[in-house]
Amino acid sequence: MNRSTGTYERTSVAGEEVKAFIPFALPPSDPPLSFDGHLKALLATAEERLRILEIAGEMIPSIDWFVYAFVRKEAVLSAQIEGTQATLMDLLEIEATGELPENADVEEVCTYIDALKYAWDEIEEESGLPISMRLLSEAHRRLLESAAGSSKRPGEVRRSQNWIGGTRPGNAVFVPPPPHMLPSLLSDFERAIHDESNLPSLVRIGLLHVQFETLHPYLDGNGRLGRLLIGLLLNHWGMVSRPLLYLSLYLKTNRQEYYRRLDAVRTEGDWEGWLAFFLEGVATVAEAAVETARSLHGIVRQNRERLIHRGDATVISLRLFEVLPEKPIITVSRVVGLLSCSRPAAAKAIRVMLDARILVPLDERKKDRLFIFSDYLEELREGTEL
Ligand SMILES: Nc1ncnc2c1ncn2[C@@H]1O[C@H](COP(=O)(O)OP(=O)(O)O)[C@@H](O)[C@H]1O
Ligand SMILES: [Mg+2]
Repeated sequence: MNRSTGTYERTSVAGEEVKAFIPFALPPSDPPLSFDGHLKALLATAEERLRILEIAGEMIPSIDWFVYAFVRKEAVLSAQIEGTQATLMDLLEIEATGELPENADVEEVCTYIDALKYAWDEIEEESGLPISMRLLSEAHRRLLESAAGSSKRPGEVRRSQNWIGGTRPGNAVFVPPPPHMLPSLLSDFERAIHDESNLPSLVRIGLLHVQFETLHPYLDGNGRLGRLLIGLLLNHWGMVSRPLLYLSLYLKTNRQEYYRRLDAVRTEGDWEGWLAFFLEGVATVAEAAVETARSLHGIVRQNRERLIHRGDATVISLRLFEVLPEKPIITVSRVVGLLSCSRPAAAKAIRVMLDARILVPLDERKKDRLFIFSDYLEELREGTEL
């Protein structure tokens, strides 16, 4: 396939003459997208797996656990793609202690969760913002509300030229559009979201993700926001009602190919190659998410059985057990706060669960020791280690 997907404009950055890439508005034309048998089959599989994930979500009695867990998994992985060194355990530990993150990388994951939650709340509320650059900029403001982000114009579309890869514009992999062209390119982008289209929704989502990365509208955070947008659009077009798809696992595992496919759209017009890669990812991760949900559910059930059948289970220990899936790392003080019980009662409940090997101490510290819901986290953290 060789189609042209944009034009180049000469622009000068930091005294260097470079060629910025200006993508054509979506959808691809000349020639239009070609859906051969392979691509059609990938699309059908991805749609089917998403449907199964959606049904699984509907049937799970404690869906909030999974939303809690999968959002964190996605946040950690999306940040790891561009080198953030925070793990799921780091994040949960910070959440458990209620301390402010000292580590800049963990802080970035926390702000990603804020941004994601904000954007999902907006699109689900009647009076919330629709999917638009305004919504993305508001999410961006939250995403970059960290020490590292504050110099990158949180909440604002860039007003200067940026570049991707390389140490300076002259040796960059590519130079996104000059800032003066962004207003019109971004309104084309919004139109591509809201205009009528004959293309399947999943295909449109794949196209929009690439277009967003190619426009690179912000000084930083474009990767994370562009991936967050995938989930929002899946919801907007009625394919998933909760943020349960952690696509970043696939994009991280196949990072080189992810970047190569993004490049090939621009340099060779290979939209079809990107779409095949993207649809394969959706199918893979949707299936994995169903599997993960199923095994987390099994783990909770087995652990609960173990607890119930112990002679020493207390009422507080049973109540504690039911909050563990959303608070998989705890301390005695945290249990006191969560269950409004006395310190001895909390300590006793934890002791029972240690004996039952439901909880395991995370470290050796004496004061405010951390305990983890071990089997559960073992399953959940898969793929999130560095
Ligand atoms: N060659 C490329 N063409 C288009 N987009 C790319 C290319 N390489 C990387 N990207 C995108 O740019 C993102 C990095 O941009 P950046 O603004 O630093 O985002 P973040 O801070 O969220 O990582 C990558 O995650 C990827 O989505
Ligand atoms: Mg970055």
